[in-house]
Amino acid sequence: MAKAPKILLLNGPNLNMLGTRQPEVYGSATLADIEAMCHAHARGLGLALDFRQSNSEGEIVGWVQAAHGKNAGIVINPGAYSHTSVAILDALLAVEATIIEVHLSNIHRREAFRHHSYVSQAAHGVICGFGATGYLMALDGLARLIGGTKKDEKKV
Ligand code: DQA
Repeated sequence: MAKAPKILLLNGPNLNMLGTRQPEVYGSATLADIEAMCHAHARGLGLALDFRQSNSEGEIVGWVQAAHGKNAGIVINPGAYSHTSVAILDALLAVEATIIEVHLSNIHRREAFRHHSYVSQAAHGVICGFGATGYLMALDGLARLIGGTKKDEKKV
């Protein structure tokens, strides 16, 4: 059997607060709920998922660097670092992996400072505004771009 492609899913600062953090903006699912959903979905897509969260920019940079040569894809919700971090952008540009950026909220409908994401410059695709479902959409999109081990689904 073919080996499941390894996917790194990274969450940035304050996403550990999901569930109680501005539920009117980010929904009521906790990060643990999203993690469970993503693991079940990744399994169905034939992807091996490593799901992480950090409030530290340096730790995220280190995780991205370590993905080089190891992970076929990276899904990242960089949180507020989307709008500030050239360091995370540079790390993503340095790894050979297919990158999908995800945001729970529609950042383009919010304050002007959220409209620009440095990370988007390294992303093959960006999903925002679909809440927790956006993570599953990101995994679907990634599986289509890199191909999971489930080859039965027709690519259209
Ligand atoms: C976010 C949007 C960012 O602007 C914000 O700083 C976050 C979460 C989202 O998922 O909608 O922390 O990335």
